[in-house]
Amino acid sequence: LKIGVLVSGGGTNLQAIIDRINDGTITDTEIVSVVSNKENAYALERIKKYNIKGKCIKPRDYTTRQEFNFALRDHFISLGVDLILLAGYLVVLSEDFVRAFPNRIMNIHPSLIPAFCGNGYYGLKVHQGVIDRGIKVTGATVHFVDEGTDTGPIILQKAVEVEDNDTPEILQRRVMEEAEWTIYPEAVRLYAEDRIKIQGNRVIIT
Ligand code: GRF
Repeated sequence: LKIGVLVSGGGTNLQAIIDRINDGTITDTEIVSVVSNKENAYALERIKKYNIKGKCIKPRDYTTRQEFNFALRDHFISLGVDLILLAGYLVVLSEDFVRAFPNRIMNIHPSLIPAFCGNGYYGLKVHQGVIDRGIKVTGATVHFVDEGTDTGPIILQKAVEVEDNDTPEILQRRVMEEAEWTIYPEAVRLYAEDRIKIQGNRVIIT
């Protein structure tokens, strides 16, 4: 399985996936390209010691948004990528891009979708929303990407408790440690083993 990864920042989810490939949990899988929209994304630093190829492709280098999306699409097509992972990617992809890889793009979102997702809910805003509403359980979701924002078929979810003294930063860290870094590699493993079937909006794991 050839994987392409899109990142904007720290890349801790990318790291978790690299670790599961390197320890043999995920088999027959190679990360062939990591693309960032930011030159200084720490994710691009992380991959150097694994000899994974990194690249920066950013909207500003193209005259139109469409050209940017086509460049990104053609980059992954030229590498023969089977699966694209959004791992803390903060750019909204066009419908053209998404349609080029139907049910072959995954994303991780730091809440239990459909709560605290969609436009406006990203990064710390998700966790701030959870705290403001006073809910007791949050979590993370891995889903396929469709033309909407956080609307595609849900692959895996894991719950995480909210504690009384949580700040958005503390909660963000707990959701990563207890949910994201487990379920994202797990979803990739299931995909690599061809165990994910989609029936309408539902994902069946075999
Ligand atoms: C994670 O919280 C993820 O759920 C969200 O962006 C963050 C990325 O963190 N989509 P990292 O770059 O993987 O460390």
